[in-house]
Amino acid sequence: MQTATSSTPLVDRPAWKSLKAHADQIRGRHLRDLFKEDPTRGERLTAEAEGLFLDYSKNRVTDETLKLLVQLAEQSKLRERTEAMFNGEKINITENRAVLHVALRAPKNESIVVDGENVVPEVHKVLEKMAAFANRVRSGEWRGHTGKRIRNIVNIGIGGSDLGPVMAYEALKHYSQRDLTFRFVSNVDGTDFAEAVQDLNVDETLFLVASKTFTTLETMTNAHTAREWALKSLGDEKAVAKHFVAISTNAKEVAKFGIDTENMFGFWDWVGGRYSMDSAIGLSTMIAIGPENFNEMLAGFHAMDVHFRTTPLEKNLPALLGLLSIWYTEFFDAQTQAVLPYEQYLKRFPAYLQQLTMESNGKHVTLDGAKVNYQTGQIYWGEPGTNGQHSFYQLIHQGTRLIPCDFIAFYKSLNPLGRHHDMLVANVFAQAEALAFGKTAEQVKAEGTPDWLVPHRVFEGNRPSNTILADVLTPAALGKLVALYEHAVFTQGVIWNIDSFDQWGVELGKVLATKILGELESKDKPKLDHDSSTTNLIELYRKNK
Ligand code: F6P
Repeated sequence: MQTATSSTPLVDRPAWKSLKAHADQIRGRHLRDLFKEDPTRGERLTAEAEGLFLDYSKNRVTDETLKLLVQLAEQSKLRERTEAMFNGEKINITENRAVLHVALRAPKNESIVVDGENVVPEVHKVLEKMAAFANRVRSGEWRGHTGKRIRNIVNIGIGGSDLGPVMAYEALKHYSQRDLTFRFVSNVDGTDFAEAVQDLNVDETLFLVASKTFTTLETMTNAHTAREWALKSLGDEKAVAKHFVAISTNAKEVAKFGIDTENMFGFWDWVGGRYSMDSAIGLSTMIAIGPENFNEMLAGFHAMDVHFRTTPLEKNLPALLGLLSIWYTEFFDAQTQAVLPYEQYLKRFPAYLQQLTMESNGKHVTLDGAKVNYQTGQIYWGEPGTNGQHSFYQLIHQGTRLIPCDFIAFYKSLNPLGRHHDMLVANVFAQAEALAFGKTAEQVKAEGTPDWLVPHRVFEGNRPSNTILADVLTPAALGKLVALYEHAVFTQGVIWNIDSFDQWGVELGKVLATKILGELESKDKPKLDHDSSTTNLIELYRKNK
């Protein structure tokens, strides 16, 4: 079935035109004045859902802006497209696939039909298989080839088959079984594998080979290296069954690799790699935190799914986040978006979001294949606070670029230690305040600053941020947070009228790398037909390797 999309090009939609004119007025306005004019702004421009509180008052917006952004979402058919996604329509049109990460966290009694089949029972069947396996590993019942208990889990995967698992493991470490060691190998650089296993005992090590396609060069290379490493000590081919499991949609390739498909955890083509952390790709997470906590995380995702699907756009957290980023990207020339979690456990969250947001929305044509005449795909980046404050915040405060920031913090710490948490949170609020209101030349002068130094010490302010607060980092809170961004990315993609679920942009590099690999390895140095730069680099490498 063809999805409802807006037939009017983005820049011709009435709300877009109104926003353009409106932005010309807003650009000249300072957050200081907006706050002065409306003393209730800080309480009013907020939204709360499922325990996540969003303060978006420190954005360069007025009620009129929000009204127009919501109109833009409506004119872009955000509602219709959301329904199409949740109903299993093939909205990933270039791959002719449904986009159903929401089915991965749907309760058992729901029905989501793809190609005439309700996929929810299948999802729960795999979850149950994962839980049984995770429990066997956690309890020590699953033994290695020599009869030893498994103590080390090594996830081999890349992109969505790595970033979700590693982010979730780090985020939920507090809930993890501490007598198990977790490692994540992704890079084809041999150092990644070598360092991951150098202190591990092979008898006690289980490899999870995570790859949707089971053909990804990096993952297959690492998996073969792992197999050789394991068999060098364990000798017997039979050991593979005890030390390797596969997570994939491709049973044929899994069997070819030598993993018994009994030890395979499946998922489906309607789960995109960067949306797969709730599928079997999350097996390492489930082993780490246990099935109960994993289910709690899924419930968190689902709660945000329901919120996104049913809440009016004015109060809809993912929609607001997505629309605000459209506002800055399109009308303020913002190139990037900083994501700044003030929670050490979320240290890999920005890296995770980079794939989620940039692989999804880094597109140059619309769904119809027409070249876009606007910007798409903001650049997401960030580091946990307070570390970032001592490296790149200078540029956010006093540089020449506008960088909207998302601050993320929790009321409670999982490791309450003296004054640490109050200090941490004080920094979140202080940074957002400083960015918005800055410090005028008069204020700087009044502090006795010599005239020549005044300009250097002025903070212009008027730099936008969102503050997202939640109670404490639980598995459910993580689920809500990730789903918040997933649906914000979806919102952006709908406005931009692009396919947020394909990733053709990674293909060309893969093809060229395969060709060049042959040229680097071949003994008889084949003739090169590249540009002069690439040819020169290949020759240099051949000479010096
Ligand atoms: O980078 C391209 C990509 O296809 C990602 O979308 C995906 O997450 C990653 O490669 C890994 O793919 P696979 O799980 O098939 O190994």
